[in-house]
Amino acid sequence: MKYFLTTAIDFVNSRPHLGTAYEKVTADIIARYRRLAGFDTHFLMGNDEHSQNVFRKAVEQGKDPLAYCDEMEGVFREVWQRLDVSFDDFIRTSDKKRHFPAVRKMAQACLDNGDIYEGSYEGFYCVGCEAFKQEKDLVAGNCPIHNTKPQWIKEKNWFFRLSKYQQPLLKHFAENPSFIEPDIRRNEILRLVEGGLEDISMTRAGQSWGIPVPFDPTSVVYVWFDALINYAAAVGYGWDEERFKEWWPASLHVVGKDITRFHCVIWPAMLMSAGVALPKQVFGHGWVYFKGERMSKTMGNIVDPLDAASRFGPDPLRLYLAKEIPYGGDGDFTWERFEEKYNADLANNLGNLVNRIASMTERYQQGVIRSAGGGPLAAIAAETVASYQASMDVHALHEGAAAAFRLISAANNYIAETQPWSLAKDPANADRLNGVLADTAEAVRIAAVLLSPVMPASATEIIRRLGDAAPASERRLDKDTVWRTSGEKQILNAGALWPRIEADKGVVTVTDETPKAPEASAPVAPAPVTEASASGGEGGPALITIDDFMKIQLKVGKVLGAERMPKSQKLLKLTVDAGEAEPRTILAGIAESYEPAAMVGKTIVIVANLAPRKMMGLESNGMVLAASPDGGAAIVLNVEPATPGTRVR
Ligand code: MSP
Repeated sequence: MKYFLTTAIDFVNSRPHLGTAYEKVTADIIARYRRLAGFDTHFLMGNDEHSQNVFRKAVEQGKDPLAYCDEMEGVFREVWQRLDVSFDDFIRTSDKKRHFPAVRKMAQACLDNGDIYEGSYEGFYCVGCEAFKQEKDLVAGNCPIHNTKPQWIKEKNWFFRLSKYQQPLLKHFAENPSFIEPDIRRNEILRLVEGGLEDISMTRAGQSWGIPVPFDPTSVVYVWFDALINYAAAVGYGWDEERFKEWWPASLHVVGKDITRFHCVIWPAMLMSAGVALPKQVFGHGWVYFKGERMSKTMGNIVDPLDAASRFGPDPLRLYLAKEIPYGGDGDFTWERFEEKYNADLANNLGNLVNRIASMTERYQQGVIRSAGGGPLAAIAAETVASYQASMDVHALHEGAAAAFRLISAANNYIAETQPWSLAKDPANADRLNGVLADTAEAVRIAAVLLSPVMPASATEIIRRLGDAAPASERRLDKDTVWRTSGEKQILNAGALWPRIEADKGVVTVTDETPKAPEASAPVAPAPVTEASASGGEGGPALITIDDFMKIQLKVGKVLGAERMPKSQKLLKLTVDAGEAEPRTILAGIAESYEPAAMVGKTIVIVANLAPRKMMGLESNGMVLAASPDGGAAIVLNVEPATPGTRVR
């Protein structure tokens, strides 16, 4: 089965930013998913060059426009490559071999069908959008997208009879309910078309930068009429009919919400007029904002996707874009949120889990996992695969990614419940221990297969560490998400995949530290520092800096076990999963407030970097945070269930 998908082609008057990258990355996830699902996939991207802004930019830099566009092709390709975007073809609208003949052919076909006529246009034109604007489109006289005053132009143009296609378009939408996705865009377009369509200019007069109109060499083809044709041009329209038959119609155009109407109204009408089949689907994704604001040069808030990629590799950014923004809606990016999600999903959850499996297998089984039957994780994995596939088939990328992470969390919980470190203490448990490690590793391998469209390089690395060295190109959803119970696996213990990010005064730094050996100790947190007790001399509290605070490593811990300490009224001995290879023992002075059973299962906060301290003959590693009223019972701090090991700050 063939799957031909495209993204919008970018104006090259500036380099790619996080917003344009969002589209390419999410389309790449769809392309990779389709390949994984066994489709013969063709993924097209490209550059849109015949815009006035591009021409102006070249002139500003004293360059020939084509030479400028050649340079920009290199810039765009490099960014896409560094974000691991796996396009199969890249088209430029200055391509004389493929694009020019396609544009000429389609313009001629529309003319021959009686849909192009000569007229004159008088009205607004926004150079930023490269679009003719009606007065009702403006806000306070400005283009609402660019917040600039459009030009008033008056020129002889050739018009395309868009109005003729109102009813055929409405009929097409009714007969093909999934032609426009998601629903919010479909409804917008329906309202627009139902409101009536006006004919549009398909040429611009008096310009040299563009494709000459075949039937009027004094004009060039209007940049949008020109650009839309790229999708057909790339696969042979006008220059290789055999190839065109092979790939057309496109399965999916991925475009931003601002240009959905060009793709859902003008483009299908052009195709109808030229007698060419319509694409099967247009998906209008939302926009990515930076701290709620539109990214723009004037605001000085453009996020360069390479900033994230060069620090952390492309995958954490790809995961953020896929998982944190419901696909189809708008989303927000901030560095704080990015770091938070990186630490939660990658450093603490997935990365830590891969490390735990590898280090326990190394320690208890010399790095080898023997075959094992499927425990409860097998059923969870099967459910996850089904829900992942259902989501990804309808481009709900965020749900697909979330499904994979549910399986990862289930695997983490399974470790906490089965406690391989306890099993390892008795050789009679060897088979059970192997079974637990095998099941957890298998669940993570399957989750990595599911995440491979989102995080291609990391998924391949995880799958390799878990003993499957088959090349990524041979990976298939059907065969590789089946639960494997046989075969011996050599597990690689190869260090942290995603070292935690420690934020320090807004500067992002990556540290490779595993929790340091603890330094000081107390059974429960001391009473909170009050203004009175910590007066800094003149009656004010002694202030600490954020650096001081960050020296205390607070972490989420899950209480796996609790028992009274013989001969102690105050101490409970807790076994706490803090997301490390083995659980810690912490002695907490809470026995007067809590029965041991009441503590088991609680998700608490611990100080992770206290030096070990011996009490009543046992070593305590860490401290439990609790509110400790003077003379009253300690109240242990609970957090909503969160992954053990998550940093608290
Ligand atoms: N050249 C036209 C498209 C022609 S397609 C035949 C164009 N170019 S663009 O460079 O302005 O935008 C390219 C794509 O990036 C569009 O789909 C646009 O919606 C998308 N985005 C631009 N900024 C964006 C965000 N901030 N967020 C998400 N997508 C955004 O339009």
